[in-house]
Amino acid sequence: MSGLVLIGAQWGDEGKGKITNYLAERADMVVRFQGGANAGHTVAVGGRTVVFHLLPSGISRPSAVCVIGPGVVIDPEALVVEIDRVAADGIQVGANLLIDVGAHLVMPYHKAVEAAEEAARGGLAIGTTHRGIGPAYADRCSREGLRAGDLVPPALFRERFERVAARRNEVLTRLHGAPPLDVGQALAGVERAAARLAPHLADTPPIVRGALRAGKRVLFEGAQGSLLDVAFGTYPFVTSSHTTAAGVASGAGVPPSQIGEVLGVAKAYTTRVGAGPFPTEAEGAEAEMIRERGAERGATTGRPRRCGWFDAVAVRHAAELSGFGGLVLTKLDVLDAFERIPVCVAYEIDGRRTDRFPRSTDDLARARPVFEDAPGWQASTREARRPDDLPRAALDYVRRLESLTDVPVAAVSVGAAAHAIVEFSEIL
Ligand code: IMP
Repeated sequence: MSGLVLIGAQWGDEGKGKITNYLAERADMVVRFQGGANAGHTVAVGGRTVVFHLLPSGISRPSAVCVIGPGVVIDPEALVVEIDRVAADGIQVGANLLIDVGAHLVMPYHKAVEAAEEAARGGLAIGTTHRGIGPAYADRCSREGLRAGDLVPPALFRERFERVAARRNEVLTRLHGAPPLDVGQALAGVERAAARLAPHLADTPPIVRGALRAGKRVLFEGAQGSLLDVAFGTYPFVTSSHTTAAGVASGAGVPPSQIGEVLGVAKAYTTRVGAGPFPTEAEGAEAEMIRERGAERGATTGRPRRCGWFDAVAVRHAAELSGFGGLVLTKLDVLDAFERIPVCVAYEIDGRRTDRFPRSTDDLARARPVFEDAPGWQASTREARRPDDLPRAALDYVRRLESLTDVPVAAVSVGAAAHAIVEFSEIL
């Protein structure tokens, strides 16, 4: 099977960008199938650190065709800014980028409405990235969305944009008492971006299916994480797309039978940004130590991430949803300094022990982690490139996570450098 899917096994920020970039060396095509500019994939390219939001992480490899598929929501202005920013880092985006005509657009009114809605939620705010993601997917479902293919011809686009923008201005002013959007100015910005993006528009699903049929290596790059999935995550504290492997079929236009192998990516501990339950969250000095050592700040918003211990119940839930054939553990080196490392093996909810991830977010909020302590190794793992290079206790830790999650570990990442990876099996 020539397809490989990379899925975040936690609440996002698992280090998928680095793994995609690593695997992209051997890939012919990299496909984004959900999410939008809420993603922040940090990768080391030629000694520099580059953050991708909408561009597939394979874009730094000119030989890989990069596809923004129909399940993605695209902010055209943000995408143009990103293309220009990566060009300054020496990454030229040309004919290697394909944007699907059916991908929905994030428009300025989506961001304005989201800001007003989040403010109105007060203490119940989701803590979104304010990239307009939720309102754009809502418009898609309510059949009022505009799609990338609508950007041309400009006259028709203008008419559609003005109609929807006028309605959203009613929501902004009447419901939220917020200032209306300047429709003309907003439109002008989108039109400028549209002219830049038009040459990249394509009907991408046949191209992706054709590549799979021809045996090319196609990497499907997930954004966010399984626990932010709109159907199976910690609803309502989730994003608005399908972040599990199921999202690939509808988000890239590929039959489920052709998706191929699925790899989960999980940190060797856990982080979360935004609101919502997080059973293994650490506090005080331990949380701060993880945050400092792991540079745990949001790549998109700069927010400090909430930090905690590895949650095997949650990762097993993600593995079952997507059918992980392998697990890539990232940032193992962040744990190098700890004397003991708690691992959550089960939850206790209302005095009852369970190893199932609860479907009710209210139940999850009451879940108390049952921890077992793994001994730390207190030695650097950063130079390790083969399993045997790892300190004994680090290898035991990896093997313990493997048995708790019931997924074979395919690789372990031990530092930010592009090749700081220990492969446990041939992954692509
Ligand atoms: P939205 O996707 O901006 O609507 O945000 C919804 C929730 O998903 C919030 O808790 C965000 O912090 C979280 N989120 C969205 N994108 C990412 C990501 O790429 N990494 C981690 N969390 C994310």
